[in-house]
Parts: sequence; structure tokens; C-alpha cells
Amino acid sequence: MRILSGIQPSGKLHLGNYFGMMKRMVDYQENNELYAFIVNYHALTSVFDAKKLQEGTFNAACDFLALGMDPEKSTFWVQSDVPEVTELTWLLSNVTSMGLLERAHAYKDKVVKGIPATHGLFSYPVLMAADILAYGGERVPVGKDQKQHIEIARDIAERFNATYGETFVLPEEDIEEEIATVPGIDGQKMSKSYGNTIEIFADEETLRKKVMSIVTDTTPVDEPKPIENNTLYEIYSLFLNPAEKEELKDRFLTPGLKYGEVKKELFGMIWEYFRPYREKRKGYANDRGEVMNILQKGANKARETASHYVQLARKNVGLYYWD
Ligand code: TYM
Repeated sequence: MRILSGIQPSGKLHLGNYFGMMKRMVDYQENNELYAFIVNYHALTSVFDAKKLQEGTFNAACDFLALGMDPEKSTFWVQSDVPEVTELTWLLSNVTSMGLLERAHAYKDKVVKGIPATHGLFSYPVLMAADILAYGGERVPVGKDQKQHIEIARDIAERFNATYGETFVLPEEDIEEEIATVPGIDGQKMSKSYGNTIEIFADEETLRKKVMSIVTDTTPVDEPKPIENNTLYEIYSLFLNPAEKEELKDRFLTPGLKYGEVKKELFGMIWEYFRPYREKRKGYANDRGEVMNILQKGANKARETASHYVQLARKNVGLYYWD
């Protein structure tokens, strides 16, 4: 199975990204063909500072590698190193109806949050479709916030195939119900634009503060605690196996549990969980040459696959005028 997904280099990696997508990608690479990339073209819709984008891209590469992306087994690259996707975006644009894009809620949400309402932002889903279709992605592991984007990609592929003949694989989203939307410290979806993230490579004090400020309800200590819509419970559960989750549930339902203590415990758990990755990340962050080398090799591999689909699309729409 060809599994493909990407991440924007526009902020620091948080628990939502990790559990919603990255960890699942890394787990998939054992038995599948994995395509993973850093979407710096997409980040141009919201990052208008060249230095920041450059840094963000390098940092995202270090994150992904430290967390277990294996460049030998998988194809790992930076989106703009295969500029063919932008050409494909144009070919796809002409079978993409305005209505389809007008229905995209990510666009509206982002504009409400203050991201400029540019044409790039509006056509973001077409570039994302190109990302997926250029590499023949079959399954796309994402968080729930990307569900509609994958549906749009599929619609565009169907429309293209119907218009020009079989060209693209139809992709499917891969969303795991339990971690579809990881909540942030205020209980809303964890998102850097809400300022409610728990960054996985934050320093110890910042991480402690973040965890200690997870919102909790006012249930008295000597009463059972709710587990529905309980942000602390949900975030803690991410780190547990099913048996441990049952145990945690029992603890919440038993009177006497103190939220403050659970938070301290959770902080310790997160800190330890990411410790080996933090160490590995330092190695990459101090070896720019090695990271660049990996990305370059990845781009060469990615390009071979993209050329196949992009050439086929060019041919099928009639750009091979000499034929
Ligand atoms: P991005 O960079 O916003 O997020 C990367 C991944 O993290 C997931 N995620 C979450 N999952 C669960 N709970 C959360 N609170 C949470 N926050 C973020 C996202 O769903 C995503 O999977 N448009 C994409 C990047 C992209 C892409 C692609 C993805 C560009 N081209 C092609 C797949 C295929 C994005 O902005 O993700």
C-alpha cells in the first residue's frame, strides 16, 4: 500500500501532529511504501518571512527524522524540491469547480483567524490534491481537520479521470477515530493558531507549564471525575495502551483523584516519552549537512514517481502537441 502524508513547516511540532499523523506514518513504514514530505509551498500561504520558512523547514525535517522516519525505507523530501507538483496543480485547477473550493471550511476558518484571503489560500486544496496524485498516494493518514481536503483531492482525481481517461489513483483518507482531534490545553482542537499546543520538543519548564495549565472542570476532589470531554483524560490516554487506559478510567471514576497530581504525572510521562527522540533530534540539528543530504536523496526518489504521473497527465490533457 502506498501511504502518503505531509506537514507544514509553519510552527513547532505538537502532540496533535504527532499522534494525528506523524507517529502513524512512522508505524506504517514497516510494511508499506511510505511517502512523507514537508509542505513548504503550502506554508507560503501563511508564512511571509523567508528566514522563518527556511528555519521551519529544517526544523520539521529534524523532527520527522528524530521521530523515526527512516529515509532508507521511505521517501522523505521537501515539497518544493519537486516543483512538478505546481505544474500539476495547474492541470488539476481546470477540472476543479469553484463551488468545490468554496465549500472548503479550512479556507474560511483560516481567514477568520487572520490569514490573508489570497488566491493561494483559496486554491490550497488543489495544491494538496497535486501532492497526493503526483505520487499515486492510496492512503493518506491525517487528523480530522484534513478530511475534507482529502475528499476534495479524490473528487478532483475522479473528475480528471472522467475527463481525460484513467490517470490518477483515487486516494482515501486514513483517520483514526480515537485521535482524530487531539484537544489543546484549553479543550479546543490543538492548533498553533489557537495558541493551545503542547510542543513535543519544548524545554522542560515550558512543557511543565503547558501541562499544568490544561483546563479542568470544578468537580470536587471527593467526587468521581467525568471522562467525557475531559481534556486531561484525553491527552493522558494518548500515551496509554488499552489496559492502562482502563486503569486511568477507574482512577478518574474513583472519588479522591486530584487533577493537579494527574497533571504532574502526565508531565513526567510526556517528558520521558520524548526523551530518546529529543536526544536524536539534537544529533540532526547539529548536522545540517547530513539532513540536507537525506532530503536531496529523498527528492530524487520522489521526483521519479512524480514524473510518471505528471508526464501522463501532460500527455492526457494534450500538451504533447508533437505527438
Ligand atoms: P498540518 O501541517 O496542519 O498538520 C499536520 C498533520 O497533523 C494533523 N493534526 C492533528 N491531528 C489530530 N489532532 C490535532 N489537534 C491535530 N492538529 C494537526 C493534521 O491533520 C495533519 O495530518 N494540509 C496539511 C498538509 C498537507 C498534506 C498534503 C497532508 C499538504 N499536502 C498531502 C496530506 C497529504 C496540513 O496543513 O497539515
